[in-house]
Amino acid sequence: IAACFAPKLLAGHRLLITAGPTFEAIDPVRGITNLSSGKMGFAIAAAAQAAGAAVTLVAGPVHLPTPRGVQRINVQSARQMLAAVQSQADQASIFIATAAVADWRPANASDQKIKKDGTGDVPALAFVENPDILASIAQSPRAQSGALYCVGFAAESHDLLQHATAKRVRKGVPLLVGNIGPATFGQDDNALLLVDAQGHRELPRASKAALGVQLVQELARRLPPAPR
Ligand code: CTP
Ligand code: CA
Repeated sequence: IAACFAPKLLAGHRLLITAGPTFEAIDPVRGITNLSSGKMGFAIAAAAQAAGAAVTLVAGPVHLPTPRGVQRINVQSARQMLAAVQSQADQASIFIATAAVADWRPANASDQKIKKDGTGDVPALAFVENPDILASIAQSPRAQSGALYCVGFAAESHDLLQHATAKRVRKGVPLLVGNIGPATFGQDDNALLLVDAQGHRELPRASKAALGVQLVQELARRLPPAPR
């Protein structure tokens, strides 16, 4: 993909990107998670690195090799992902949230494995809401001033354009990217809907690698000049 970028479209930029699911423990042997292969985020990380950006990839539990030249931070839970992102955000000029973050986590994770008690009773699980990583970064002073360009993703089961348009405003990000269904978990291809303040455009079905390159080109068009 390096050949796709001459001159290097993201030279001087520092990209921070989340990818994959999060895993929220119930006890040491169980948890809840989301469906996400991480492939789209890893493809964007690879394309951005090839385009000259310094890339930090905060990855939930996925079985994917780290793209060449990319710094990777592995995390499990949403709170760990938030902490990793917060530790890197001050250095970044672009933040892309592709992770499928679990919206809720068990309220009281048990330190010990929960055992069946033999009566057939089932444990009652209570949940609390996880922090919204994208919204918290998008509301930071650097994002608000335009020094950090934030991009959200959305996977919707229906009415993608309406939901993506509303989500872009709700999250306070300049660009929101929708996964055009049917759901492509684990697939090597995808189709994307880009929604910004000007309107929307579609990137037709293609390999996630090719879409990563196209998204980098779309980003480069929208970004302010690279910080010096
Ligand atoms: N996101 C995040 N932290 C969360 C939830 C979502 O950073 N706790 C990010 C995702 O990485 C994605 C965007 O926010 O870029 C939208 O995620 P999505 O799950 O579609 O939106 P939600 O606000 O969680 O709304 P809902 O799931 O109810 O549609
Ligand atoms: Ca969600």
